[in-house]
Amino acid sequence: MATRPQSFDAVIIGSGAAGLTAALNLARTMKVAVLSKGDLNAGSTTWAQGGIAAVLEAGDTFESHISDTMIAGAGLNDPRTVEFVVENAPRAIRRLAELGVPFNPDENGEEGWHLTREGGHSARRIVHVDDATGWSVQEALERAARAEPNLTLLPDMVAIDLVTGKHSPSEENDGRQVWGVYAYNRRARRVDTIVGKATVLATGGAGRTYLFSTAPRGATGDGIAMAWRAGSRVSNMEFMQFHPTCLYNLEVKNFLITEAVRGEGGLLKLPPGVEGGGERFMPRFDMRGELAPRDIVARAIDHEIKRLGLDYVHLDISHKGDSFVEQHFPTIHKKLLGLGIDMTKEPIPVVPAQHYTCGGVLVDRAGRTDLPGLYAAGEVSQSGLHGANRLASNSLLECLVYGEAAAQHILEHRADMAAPPDIRPWDESRVRNPDEEVVVQHNWREIRRFMWDYVGIVRTDKRLERAAHRVAMLKAEVEEYYGNFRVSPDLIELRNLITVADLIVRSARERPESRGLHYNFDNPHSLPVASDTVLVP
Ligand code: FAD
Ligand code: SIN
Repeated sequence: MATRPQSFDAVIIGSGAAGLTAALNLARTMKVAVLSKGDLNAGSTTWAQGGIAAVLEAGDTFESHISDTMIAGAGLNDPRTVEFVVENAPRAIRRLAELGVPFNPDENGEEGWHLTREGGHSARRIVHVDDATGWSVQEALERAARAEPNLTLLPDMVAIDLVTGKHSPSEENDGRQVWGVYAYNRRARRVDTIVGKATVLATGGAGRTYLFSTAPRGATGDGIAMAWRAGSRVSNMEFMQFHPTCLYNLEVKNFLITEAVRGEGGLLKLPPGVEGGGERFMPRFDMRGELAPRDIVARAIDHEIKRLGLDYVHLDISHKGDSFVEQHFPTIHKKLLGLGIDMTKEPIPVVPAQHYTCGGVLVDRAGRTDLPGLYAAGEVSQSGLHGANRLASNSLLECLVYGEAAAQHILEHRADMAAPPDIRPWDESRVRNPDEEVVVQHNWREIRRFMWDYVGIVRTDKRLERAAHRVAMLKAEVEEYYGNFRVSPDLIELRNLITVADLIVRSARERPESRGLHYNFDNPHSLPVASDTVLVP
């Protein structure tokens, strides 16, 4: 049954750090809706462990944070974007503290916060709340959002496609203007139309394109796929970040062991029973050892696992003593104890897993996309901050800075923004109920498996060609299915997963070199000039 459109000044799709930051800034003077496809806290923000990078101590400098970000990014970062984010970081952190995020205080009783260290950072500059920073950030932002009368929170709404001028019977322009979103309302089991003068995509990353990922279940690249279908360029999708240390456990498959464990002295070792068992291996790969940028550490682990036929390597911080480990990593310690691993006494088995999507919807420094009325912020976007590899703890920071930048631009231009035209309701007249749900589940698994095998940490031309064949086959099958049957949350995600897989494979095949996170065995060197991959719909 078609429902009347619900109308707001601004529609935000996503309730993580980026979406809620944008919403809180806008809601001071605008009527705002925030959609989330499940619970409000089901995005990656909640699961962030390590913390947020910012220059907060006299001994550290913006130049150093900028330089570390650019070194990790392998020459592909946009220097002006990096400066913009780094220079706005201290203010963004103070704002979170004002909202009630209880960052750990300095351990020596000095004024200020405790700063931890992570790979690729040349100084201690990561503020954190124990080893569960994201939980506190999400909680504080949600608390502020619930107290805001102009803000309507809409959980359990799965955005399907952006509403554009093409969906209006009265559109007179080129149809590229974005006016909100069609979303599947899980509670009412129908498709709703939510319209606004401005729309912000804050849907997070696409980690679930891969079999093993630290990202939560909903990280299916929905915003990237929706923007692409609506006509926006997408950039640098080949740069998928693999976190070096995901817990290896047959039951718990996506539990992260924060990089801060290595930052605080944790060592990577080969497990006993193989040549060099019990010894460190990172010094053989990089002089920065365990604190090399994570692409280097992940590739080194992958190399050792393949060379020696291992299931995992060991991460050992037991030498730091019980109280140090319990004090710095209470969440991880407790979780591991529940699985029979005491990290104060024994090493943790770890493997690399997909962790972060560096590429995404191309935006400028105000978070504007190619499409009028559409903004993007956070992991869904490609702002130029991360280049070919994201520096640890720079992503929550990007969410905060770009969430605010997008809101600021909307507020400054609200007087010029027209009200949405009439929009056609969602049309279900030519589809029927699905006959075989198994198709959806099977294709989900197949995409994630071949992406892991062929488009993972180390790629080759042949593997990418194989992946491209599979993408083409599955894309046709999914599109046919989507065209014939009523939408469901799983089908919406599957359609997005195959679109994103296609974008990743195409981007990887367009890069005839190895750079940052994209390592191709057949083209191991970097070209002299770094350039973005930009796909045009
Ligand atoms: P998310 O927080 O992922 O939120 C996405 C939102 O979009 C959710 O509300 C979701 O429901 C909604 N959404 C998605 N699709 C739809 C749809 N179709 N319809 C409606 N709503 C939709 N970064 C750091 O800087 N420091 C860290 O310590 C850190 N640790 C991490 C640990 C883990 C385990 C993981 C997975 C990531 C970590 N990261 C860290 C990365 C960081 O957490 C994310 O990049 C960041 O939180 C992304 O925030 P976001 O607001 O862009 O998206
Ligand atoms: C971690 O805690 O290791 C994750 C940090 C990040 O992804 O930025």
